Amino acid sequence: MNKEYEEMISGDIAKINGFLNSCAHLESKEGSPWETVLEAERYALSAGGKRVRPLLAVEFYRLFSGGETVPDFVYEAAVTLEMTHTFSLIHDDMPEMDDDDLRRGKPATHVKYGAATGLLAGDGLAILPYEVLADLALSGKLPPLTAVRLIKLLSENAGNRGMIAGQMLDLWSEERTDGVDEAFLVKMSGLKTGCLLTAACLFGAVLAGADEEKCRSAEIYAKNVGLAFQIVDDVLDVTSSPEALGKPTGSDLGRQKATFYDILGADGALKEAERLSRAAADELSKYPGSELLREFALSLAVRKK
Ligand code: IPE
Ligand code: IPE
Ligand code: MG
Ligand code: MG
Ligand code: MG
Repeated sequence: MNKEYEEMISGDIAKINGFLNSCAHLESKEGSPWETVLEAERYALSAGGKRVRPLLAVEFYRLFSGGETVPDFVYEAAVTLEMTHTFSLIHDDMPEMDDDDLRRGKPATHVKYGAATGLLAGDGLAILPYEVLADLALSGKLPPLTAVRLIKLLSENAGNRGMIAGQMLDLWSEERTDGVDEAFLVKMSGLKTGCLLTAACLFGAVLAGADEEKCRSAEIYAKNVGLAFQIVDDVLDVTSSPEALGKPTGSDLGRQKATFYDILGADGALKEAERLSRAAADELSKYPGSELLREFALSLAVRKK
């Protein structure tokens, strides 16, 4: 990726991390009995991660607002996407789901704090985004209607007809002995991974006051990137190492999950990821200033972690 874009992205990640680390809602008051669950939530959030979702929100804001500077309220809203994502990872790693012990290069939250606290830390991070978004409106940083639109976007994409539905299909696929087809994988991945990325891109568009056509482009970009992202994730589960990924490899094979690697093979899957990322990039070509997001889509298809 072009050096200027790389620098912009690392600057944004630093800001995102800054807002996540200083989130007042996650601060402990000394001696409070619920100290441990807050500590577990901070542990999961600060363990690292690529911060793809808040980053997409920030970059779509930048694209559609046409400005260089991104105001603080955009970062403050964008970090709620990382809270939702982190909750999904905490629960995804628990023994009842994927049963993985390592996440972002550290013991998974349920391993470090025990299953009950891990479960509650996931619950806490699932709910917190709505409090943060409501507070942005109540403190006058966001127009109330904008905050409501973000709350709706996040809840519908992370919820019963979005990410949760995808996670259910994922678990159901483990029980299938007759295998599943590509159309099923596209559906499942679109829900479990694509939906939150859609919320992320639309967060930026809505915060920038984008019109319907721009929102539609953000959605098309997100759907293609989301699918490509899960395809690469499936391939890396087989071809990478825990050291490089920061999470266990061979996990999907061990649980007989249906993956794109099974159906398309590594080469076929990566080709498909590249095709989808290109489609995402092409969707933005009509917007001046979209080079960073276009390159970002292509870089996700060839990512190594
Ligand atoms: C992992 O997401 C789970 C999927 C949806 C494939 P990421 O690959 O974005 O994980 P982090 O946030 O960088 O740890
Ligand atoms: C996770 O998919 C999707 C969500 C957490 C919603 P995976 O189970 O493939 O993610 P990893 O590989 O554990 O990160
Ligand atoms: Mg999973
Ligand atoms: Mg998993
Ligand atoms: Mg995976």
